[in-house]
Amino acid sequence: MLIPSPVTALSILPVSAIMFIHSMNSKANIRKKITVVGAGNVGAVTAQLIAERDLADVVIIDVIEGIPQGKALDILEACPLWHSSAMVTGTNDYDDTAGSDIVVITAGLARKPGMSRDDLLKANAEIVKQVSRNILGTSPEAVVIVVTNPMDAMAYVAREVTGFPYNRVVGMGGVLDTARMRSFLAQELNAHPKNIEAVVLGGHGDLMVPVARLTTVDGKCITDMLSESDIEKVIRRTKNGGAEIVELLKTGSAYHAPAAAVVEMIESVLGMKNGPLPCSVYLNGEYGIRGVYLGVPVRLGPGGVEKIIEIELTENEKTALTASADAIGKLIEKVC
Ligand code: 2OP
Repeated sequence: MLIPSPVTALSILPVSAIMFIHSMNSKANIRKKITVVGAGNVGAVTAQLIAERDLADVVIIDVIEGIPQGKALDILEACPLWHSSAMVTGTNDYDDTAGSDIVVITAGLARKPGMSRDDLLKANAEIVKQVSRNILGTSPEAVVIVVTNPMDAMAYVAREVTGFPYNRVVGMGGVLDTARMRSFLAQELNAHPKNIEAVVLGGHGDLMVPVARLTTVDGKCITDMLSESDIEKVIRRTKNGGAEIVELLKTGSAYHAPAAAVVEMIESVLGMKNGPLPCSVYLNGEYGIRGVYLGVPVRLGPGGVEKIIEIELTENEKTALTASADAIGKLIEKVC
């Protein structure tokens, strides 16, 4: 039986049939399926990176007619140039996302200049609740990666509404914040970012906790390399990293670095990497904190969060982390 090529099939068959054909074509290697909810900038660049690296088949879903379909088709048409066999489709129908291994939630409003991530709480909580109900109904085994802001509270909402095990719902924030801190330190020290290990704990917001004491360049602590005021400058810029880009763009927030951070987590969930990553996870006593999602170092794997890593903190660091957790707890109370 002749099975039409993906591009031919695209023009004549519904998405579910295309996905079936593609799965027949690639029976040998069981390809993972990743759904990206939200066809905005973060969602589209996340889908592009997944396809470009040929990590999995990708479905982009959004409520707006045409946008997910158009962006998915555009990415699919680039795949031959990336030597990628990824099947990329766009849809407005959750049935087309069914059976996803990973679901990335990027849907929601983005900040405007002068807004904090917390200002998005009520509106985005309703969106994430609706998305989570759909995920529960179509991909009940998925690992969920939450990006929508205020991210830590939204991760809590997604976990509550899906009812998934806590380890299968994780928030993306710390991977982005540490990437920013590493890039600022690389500029400050004229060092290669790959030689910089940065530690940022806590919420993905104004109360995040960059830990200079544990941040190193070539294994050397930055407190031995920079003055206190220069370290303070890097920490301030890291905390303000998202807002700095919002102020420059004026009409939206960052998306290249957030998408790259999501894909870093996806590669860990897919078992391609296994180093510790700073992610927002549900704490149930770790770090003396319970009942919130908060950014701490974890190991990710096929089941989502496989290990929460507890590092020794100073009293000041513990105080800052608890303050961050309390602020997230207050946001959660407003929406759950
Ligand atoms: C950021 O920090 C969008 O929260 C994201 O840029």
